[in-house]
Amino acid sequence: MKIGILTSGGDCPGLNATIRGAAKAIYEQVDNAQIVGIVDGYHGLIHGESHKMHPEDFSGILTRGGTILGTSRQPYKKMRVIEDNIDKIENMKSNYKKMGLDCLLILGGNGTHKTAKLLSDEGLNVIGLPKTIDNDIWGTDVTFGFHTAVDIATDVIDRIHTTACSHKRVMVIEIMGNKAGWLTLYSSIAGGADIVVLPEIPFDLDKIANSVQKRADKGKNFSIVVVAEGAMDKKEAKLKKKERAKLREERGEITATARIAKGINEKIGFDTRVVVPGHIVRGGSPSSYDRVLATQFGVYAAELIAKRCYGVSVAMKNNIVTHNPLEEVAGITKFVPVDHQMIRTGRMIGMSFGD
Ligand code: F6P
Repeated sequence: MKIGILTSGGDCPGLNATIRGAAKAIYEQVDNAQIVGIVDGYHGLIHGESHKMHPEDFSGILTRGGTILGTSRQPYKKMRVIEDNIDKIENMKSNYKKMGLDCLLILGGNGTHKTAKLLSDEGLNVIGLPKTIDNDIWGTDVTFGFHTAVDIATDVIDRIHTTACSHKRVMVIEIMGNKAGWLTLYSSIAGGADIVVLPEIPFDLDKIANSVQKRADKGKNFSIVVVAEGAMDKKEAKLKKKERAKLREERGEITATARIAKGINEKIGFDTRVVVPGHIVRGGSPSSYDRVLATQFGVYAAELIAKRCYGVSVAMKNNIVTHNPLEEVAGITKFVPVDHQMIRTGRMIGMSFGD
């Protein structure tokens, strides 16, 4: 049996651990298994770039960050668009056949899962594995990569705390997460942030400045504001993405983080600084939690292959590894519910959500 593996979209810690878990279990459970590594995500499937892999390729990669297969972003909305005379879908289908694949493991986030469903609808045998630091894939309690990113973001907040305190500054930290605020929420609770701004809860600049001022009135002369990359204020939240971008360009504040830092300074005169750890939270070795999760997910994918169960994505539900049909999860974003217990937890300890 010939099994292809690809990793697509933004990388995250745990991709290699998942590949390793899947491969080791495939060699154990599937007769005459051959594994084909597809290069740089869907790019490799579109352009026929792949290589035969051997058991030794999967040794020593449990702790390695990134992906040994390479990755790329191939936007779903362009999948059906012919570019440079290339019909991407037809190419992927014919390369799948040319590579002699019986099935394909696809490790990726929301966009990747949409294309996985498309390929499944086109008749390919695919299994999705949920990766992303954003933890925003519907149908799974957790994605691999998320908890490592939480650990790194928490470390950032811890380190910023000490310098904020020494200089009596308001430090505004931007954490990745364009649509969903899970990473910001978890790391903020873990790092003891004072003000937390999520895409799901549009902010009011006055409320944020008031929270900083209130802390100062109580003698706390520094504050830690953690802002998700995709945060927006109440007015911006009513606008379409393009209109929002235009408004921000006109204001000369491209990010919510920049706007919040400037706003606090202008409104209450505090010295502010912006910190953007950016891709640092996606880099490096997976945490032990993610190594375990990735291994469980990879092994479960091998079990699905052994059962010829395709058109699904692996998931964790109530601590049980399971799977969902792709049509039930692909392309559905798991946002932070505004009444989520973690938000109530934050509010109960005096955290402001800027609303
Ligand atoms: O989807 C994961 C993610 O890290 C998001 O949190 C972030 O908005 C985006 O990827 C950044 O993408 P890129 O690596 O293409 O800059």
